[in-house]
Amino acid sequence: MSVNKEIKRVTTHTLQEFKENGVKISMLTAYDYSMARIIDGAGIDVILVGDSASNVMAGHETTLPITLDQMIYHGASVVRGVSRALVVVDLPFGSYQGNSRLALESAIRIMKEAGAHAVKLEGGGEIRESIERILTAGIPVMGHLGLTPQSIYKFGTYNVRAKEEAEAQKLKEDAILLEKIGCFSLVLEKIPAKLAGEVAKSITIPVIGIGAGPGVDGQVLVSHDMLGINKEFRPRFVRRYAEMADQMHHAVAAYITDVKNRDFPNSTEMY
Ligand code: KIV
Repeated sequence: MSVNKEIKRVTTHTLQEFKENGVKISMLTAYDYSMARIIDGAGIDVILVGDSASNVMAGHETTLPITLDQMIYHGASVVRGVSRALVVVDLPFGSYQGNSRLALESAIRIMKEAGAHAVKLEGGGEIRESIERILTAGIPVMGHLGLTPQSIYKFGTYNVRAKEEAEAQKLKEDAILLEKIGCFSLVLEKIPAKLAGEVAKSITIPVIGIGAGPGVDGQVLVSHDMLGINKEFRPRFVRRYAEMADQMHHAVAAYITDVKNRDFPNSTEMY
């Protein structure tokens, strides 16, 4: 299936139609204007301004430190570079859990100040009130179940989630709940492929997987991982489409050599 560039702007409705017609959804992260322009220009369906910015942009060990203001900064930069994709921005840790009023205020700031098209929140039944309140403002919400990195200190590891029956059962119930209360889509992270496929079949909204196998309605990866910018991170679920860190290293090394050897700039590279 080639990229459908006929679509002027991908909306939540487009994604729903994709699911109904069996068209797989492509999604990647971006955190800045230049990367967003490239990814959008290639025809991606959804750009996620993930709180993984905390890791790949800021160098933090977890996603917990990133603030709402920082997510708005990244979101606004991405939105300025995008003309086709649906832009979803993560609500960061501490901006929505346990307080639905705060959740609504955070989501409104993301929509107003970043110009996002939707927000994503991690969790199921335990954040139901927050999701419902955001939805009352007409803000589309994407859910996120399975490995939810904002709960890393509860999980203790980044290992595959929902391998045990009890956790798998809760995840299935949470997916049905998220659809029922009005989420337009759902991310499933790092869970067994069989379970992810069952969840995708059990609900009518699009399910987008990361490390969740092929039985879901679309795939998402962190762009720095699939482009090989982040070389050290090599989990099984990441396919590398480029070795950008190596290419950038070689380019920078060549530049240094040229400067040191007085080879740059030459007569055509000056005024
Ligand atoms: O923050 C992020 O990049 C994400 C993806 C891993 C789905 O939530």
